[in-house]
Amino acid sequence: MDFERMILIVVLCLCLTSIYQVNGTRIISKEEELELERQLKLINKPPVKSIQTEFGHIVDCIDINKQLAFDHPMLKDHKIQERPHFSKRTTKNVGLSRNRPSMFGLQQDACPSGTVPIRRTTKADLIAIRSMSNNIYPQTTKVPNMHRAVIQMRTIENHRYIGVKGNINVYNPVVKEGSSYAEMYVMNGADEKLNSITTGWMTDGAQKTGCFNIRCPGFVQVDKRVYLGSAISNVSIPNGPQFEIGLYISKEEDGNWWVTKDDINIGYFPAAIFNNFTEAETVGWGGLAVSLPNGISPPMGSGIFPDDNYSHTSQFRAIQYRNSSGELDGPHENTYDTIIDSPDCYLIDFHGYIGEHEGYTFGFGGPGGDCGI
Ligand SMILES: *[C@@H]1O[C@H](CO)[C@@H](O)[C@H](O)[C@H]1NC(C)=O
Ligand SMILES: *[C@@H]1O[C@H](CO)[C@@H](O)[C@H](O)[C@H]1NC(C)=O
Ligand SMILES: *[C@@H]1O[C@H](CO)[C@@H](O)[C@H](O)[C@H]1NC(C)=O
Ligand SMILES: *[C@@H]1O[C@H](CO)[C@@H](O)[C@H](O)[C@H]1NC(C)=O
Repeated sequence: MDFERMILIVVLCLCLTSIYQVNGTRIISKEEELELERQLKLINKPPVKSIQTEFGHIVDCIDINKQLAFDHPMLKDHKIQERPHFSKRTTKNVGLSRNRPSMFGLQQDACPSGTVPIRRTTKADLIAIRSMSNNIYPQTTKVPNMHRAVIQMRTIENHRYIGVKGNINVYNPVVKEGSSYAEMYVMNGADEKLNSITTGWMTDGAQKTGCFNIRCPGFVQVDKRVYLGSAISNVSIPNGPQFEIGLYISKEEDGNWWVTKDDINIGYFPAAIFNNFTEAETVGWGGLAVSLPNGISPPMGSGIFPDDNYSHTSQFRAIQYRNSSGELDGPHENTYDTIIDSPDCYLIDFHGYIGEHEGYTFGFGGPGGDCGI
């Protein structure tokens, strides 16, 4: 594992793909095989208990003090924070919606006291991660084979952000190759000075693993049920029931960046692992589609272009940023950009503030196809 990297980009991925396929087609040499086994031994800590999930992957309950994050050289003397100390005003909740919360994480049995759930990494995961491009991260410029439809706050001098929030409709678009994401992010700097955290759901075609969180170590898991890389149980159906996940990335006073799902504090990225991330220059929300080189771009969102009909359009609602004084607010006119790099394939339909219950909303997505480079 490359701990020395200056670019620290961390991604919480929530695997939607429910069938786990061991990569049977790729032949690797004996040496490679041994090297992978050596890496796995470092990554997968000895479990106190192991749970076979209904989605095919294994979750190990690891001593909270012995999780992989603490192999990070910057976290040698780190003292675990059991819960965030958000200031009161940040917990303003949005009201009722017809969307129901989608479940994920361990549902029947939580990990025993003093341990936390960690998705076990497999050889196939390592192989998939190795062949994965950097395109999955938030970008400051256009990169090949990646298309975006996002709402992003403008970078304004002396105007910084310390959080991003929103409820994302969960769909499972049919992705034959490449991968499709719905995410929100906080981001500071660019290129080799990029510091960023992303959270959301993703689904992919070929690998059926897609859980690349281990590529960016340092996340300190504290919740006993909800873990990174969990599969999502409930998915929306066009004209059928709608499910969503409420996500929140927020920096605490001591500098740690917490990731929260529907008021459950999953864990945090300690301040110490970032090189310049006391504040973010921008935050954003939207969809991302990654294709193989010269390939067909996968569908995004529900796979349907956004219109005013939220029965079949994938949407974000109650989107908010947190400014550097800790206040939550939504994107007002002339404070954000709509970034759509392939309008024949993917669109965004921003509605702004539509009332107390739904807050600031937008629809996003599209069928994909031959979307150019
Ligand atoms: C969501 O998924 C869980 C786990 O599969 C299931 O028990 C629950 O009934 C589902 N909820 C709804 C509203 O369908
Ligand atoms: C750190 O980020 C801020 C923006 O939040 C930027 O103004 C500053 O130049 C960055 N510092 C370094 C050393 O890159
Ligand atoms: C929304 O779209 C569906 C078809 O996908 C249609 O059945 C329904 O009537 C539409 N609702 C409205 C309010 O237009
Ligand atoms: C944050 O937002 C609040 C309320 O809109 C505002 O009063 C405050 O000045 C903002 N803080 C900064 C640093 O922009």
